[in-house]
Amino acid sequence: MKKIIVAPSILSADFSALGKDIAMIAGAGAGWVHIDVMDGHFVPNITIGPVVVKSVRKATSLFFDVHLMIREPQKYWPDFRKAGADLITFHSETDCDKMRLIKDIKSSGAKAGISIKPKTPVAEIENMLAYLDLVLVMSVEPGFGGQAFMHETVPKITELRNIIDGGKYDCLIEVDGGINAETGHLCARAGADVLVSGSYIFSSSRPEDAVRSLSEIKK
Ligand code: DX5
Ligand code: ZN
Repeated sequence: MKKIIVAPSILSADFSALGKDIAMIAGAGAGWVHIDVMDGHFVPNITIGPVVVKSVRKATSLFFDVHLMIREPQKYWPDFRKAGADLITFHSETDCDKMRLIKDIKSSGAKAGISIKPKTPVAEIENMLAYLDLVLVMSVEPGFGGQAFMHETVPKITELRNIIDGGKYDCLIEVDGGINAETGHLCARAGADVLVSGSYIFSSSRPEDAVRSLSEIKK
């Protein structure tokens, strides 16, 4: 049995003490840091830019999982790579040359991921699975932390797992939105490799225990 990778979303962390919160999640066994980048156009919210990523890069050696919820990922991804992103995930629903973007991100030495919103079918990205390092299945509408998990997205995780295993693709499945110990189990059972979690961890009175409750989930 392989272990789940836990990727706490710092969107729900204390921005006046990001270094401290990141040290806490690292100590509790999180492998990745999930960084939600929103531009006020692709989603109705504005969050973190490259300067913040560059600054927190100095505070940790954890793997930086940057989730771009922005309209022109092809224009801005290099700034996040330079700031220290290890994985750059952009949205399938953006209007850009996706294969080109995947190739460019990978040739920078970073991993490349693509994300699908809850209503976007797996078929939209199926032809790119051989080239991708990760597919991010959104289990809430992107834009805000703290939303309820959409159970109707679970069959897409199963579908992706079957296609990835069938094609022997080297591509992880990450799930993002409304993840707690209960919904995390559902996703792991359906085939998820990486669980993003924000409010469940950072709003908990015992955030370390919340991280552990996810990292103990078996695949
Ligand atoms: C939503 C973001 C998520 C979010 C997760 O647009 O992509 O990463 O911060 O937060 P929770 O776990 O609170 O749903
Ligand atoms: Zn995210």
